[in-house]
Amino acid sequence: MEYPQTRLRRLRQTPAIRDLVRETKLSAEDLIMPLFVRHGRGIKNPVPSMPGNFQMSVDILALHCQDLYHRGVRAVLLFGIPEQKDETGDIASDPGGIVQQAVAAIKKVVPDLYVIADICNCGYTTHGHCGTIVDGVVDNDSTLVTLARQSVSLARAGVDMVAPSDMMDGRTGVIRKALDDNDFPELPVMTYSVKYASAFYGPFREAAESTPGSGDRKGYQMDPANRLEALREARQDIAEGADIILVKPALNYLDIIRDIKNNFNIPLAAYNVSGEFAMVKAAATKGWIDENQIVKEILTSIKRAGADIIISYHTQDIIDSL
Ligand code: PBG
Repeated sequence: MEYPQTRLRRLRQTPAIRDLVRETKLSAEDLIMPLFVRHGRGIKNPVPSMPGNFQMSVDILALHCQDLYHRGVRAVLLFGIPEQKDETGDIASDPGGIVQQAVAAIKKVVPDLYVIADICNCGYTTHGHCGTIVDGVVDNDSTLVTLARQSVSLARAGVDMVAPSDMMDGRTGVIRKALDDNDFPELPVMTYSVKYASAFYGPFREAAESTPGSGDRKGYQMDPANRLEALREARQDIAEGADIILVKPALNYLDIIRDIKNNFNIPLAAYNVSGEFAMVKAAATKGWIDENQIVKEILTSIKRAGADIIISYHTQDIIDSL
């Protein structure tokens, strides 16, 4: 039926009817807040390009997590800034490492907060690449060894889930096997299956102190021009045992999120990354946009595209208004 029998505005007349027919709902339990932890005590260093985000020492981080949890945040994703780095990043599997300490401290004060650890070497290598360098390139298979060790170490420290972000081939399967072999068969893996080589990670690298000393990550992260390849990446990680797969960044890749949603039956996460966050904050600081409205629209669009879970630095700002 056409106009005038059909009038689509009938269902837009009041908040009550709009609420009834809304297709996508954003809620606190969909969101994961990323956090940065470093050594020391009483430390809360602001990240200049990410207003409201800090490199925190373990004591401050635990208090912050307590506050987030009481405000409704259900999950956090941890990134560590180690005191020392090494050639391969294997220092990340030190049982006394910074993320290992952080997990223990958080679990002590808020045991029900779901704690996820990012698994990657870039914050732990002297050269800032995500893996072991052999003959000038990031070597895939030797990197898998360090990633598996890091995952098991964090599992022992008490994380609820590991999230490999390195983009090495085969890491989901190797990490799954290492967890199973070490008595963690129930620990889920959320794999960053579709991670593009993006300029939107700039502010994060300042926060995590993980900028590559030379070169870029194009040899392992995906080309932003590729859409079909994303399906191959997702298929492979699902076959290797990923429990949740992730697309990153989110906003310029909403088509990819929808493609994955239409093709696979598995929980899907999207990472609303640091550069996306920084642009919103910059415009909001100038008074050019309404931050709260814009953030809700952005996060809703990521859900509408097909994400079940959103990792976002906006979580802590938006949580009170959800
Ligand atoms: C580590 C990692 C990165 C991000 C998450 N994990 C950076 C990178 O790949 O260079 C980026 C997150 C963000 O920009 O918010 N490999």
